[in-house]
Amino acid sequence: MPNFSDRVHRIADEGSSAWDIHYAALAAVQTDPDVIVLSVGDPDFSTPSHIVNALSESAQAGDTHYTPILGIDELRDAVAQKLRSQGAVHIQRENIAIVAGAQNALFAAAQCTLELGDEVITFDPAYVTYEATVGAAGAKLIRVTGDAGNGFRPNIDALEKAITAKTRAIAFSNPNNPTGTAFTAGEFERINALAIKYDLWVWSDEVYADLVFEHQHQSISHFDQMNDRAICIGSLSKSHAMTGWRVGWIAGPAELIGHVENLSLCMLYGLPEFIQKAGAQAITHGELDVQQMRTTYCTRRDLLVSQLQGLSNVSLLIPQAGMFLLMDIRDTGLSSQDFVKGLYEQYKVSVLDGAAFSPALEGFVRLSFTNGETALIDACERIKIFISQLEK
Ligand SMILES: Cc1ncc(COP(=O)(O)O)c(C=O)c1O
Repeated sequence: MPNFSDRVHRIADEGSSAWDIHYAALAAVQTDPDVIVLSVGDPDFSTPSHIVNALSESAQAGDTHYTPILGIDELRDAVAQKLRSQGAVHIQRENIAIVAGAQNALFAAAQCTLELGDEVITFDPAYVTYEATVGAAGAKLIRVTGDAGNGFRPNIDALEKAITAKTRAIAFSNPNNPTGTAFTAGEFERINALAIKYDLWVWSDEVYADLVFEHQHQSISHFDQMNDRAICIGSLSKSHAMTGWRVGWIAGPAELIGHVENLSLCMLYGLPEFIQKAGAQAITHGELDVQQMRTTYCTRRDLLVSQLQGLSNVSLLIPQAGMFLLMDIRDTGLSSQDFVKGLYEQYKVSVLDGAAFSPALEGFVRLSFTNGETALIDACERIKIFISQLEK
């Protein structure tokens, strides 16, 4: 066989065992209803029926052919209008590319902005795919680790220290997966000032933007001075329970969108029109669904906190957004891997080893609240027993 490219190594997972229990639980829950999966990032809600109906009507009407590479006008306009209504006053259709989910948007951002040998700085813990996404473009991800004591908020002093001549971009998820931290306007101002000072791109992955609980979501697209360097990434995956539909977008300078169009032409060739029509329906008529899901996630977060706060030897990082809660289990004396394994093998509850995201999360586990309240209470009871047995 001829050689593979060097790229295949840069996109390969190093074989992290952090996912083993997660995959075991996903398989087991098919036949064992007693298994509770708290390790997944996929909403448990069904996609709202009016969105599914829009897909079906569109397909029936014959929208089954090639589409414009950047997306149909209806969906690009809906995304632009959504961002404008949230404060991104300058965003127009020409600033939007429709892509196959936020992950595809991250990939496109990397391919269109990075050179071989560049560095991209991220706030650590960072979402799991960033390393390979940056690596696929021939660049290197540099992690600037936050402090567990303040919920891993972005460490902006460390960010400036990490900037070198090779730095091309600052990339982060805001709100963050796995910490649930949402940036303040003040944090953004400081990051933006550095991006301007050192002439860097900023990729803000905002897939959890609609799931911020108590605060106002701060978006990179709200800061006018960033218009020529901000890449705002979003999708319907989390907000509308549409992970499988693969509808996402990049909002950025029109020139960047032109490059994304060229890239998409050779990578994606456009998304199916019936999916895009349903995506437009989701954005223009789905606000109530989003509100309900956000309220439910918030109630579930509070439930988990009320159940698990105050237990000896563990503490919680209470998320401001999203569908995950990090539990600091370092004082139990177990590694996060052993904790996850023990909890699953003895009590059939799967949580995710924080090490899947970052070495900084060794000793943390991530619980998803993508289950109803009854299952969450049941899971918490089992977690409490597991932890109390560790003390003995
Ligand atoms: C921070 C973050 N970015 C991107 C993604 C991928 O989202 P999408 O389904 O829109 O590709 C996820 C999915 O979990 C995520 O948590």
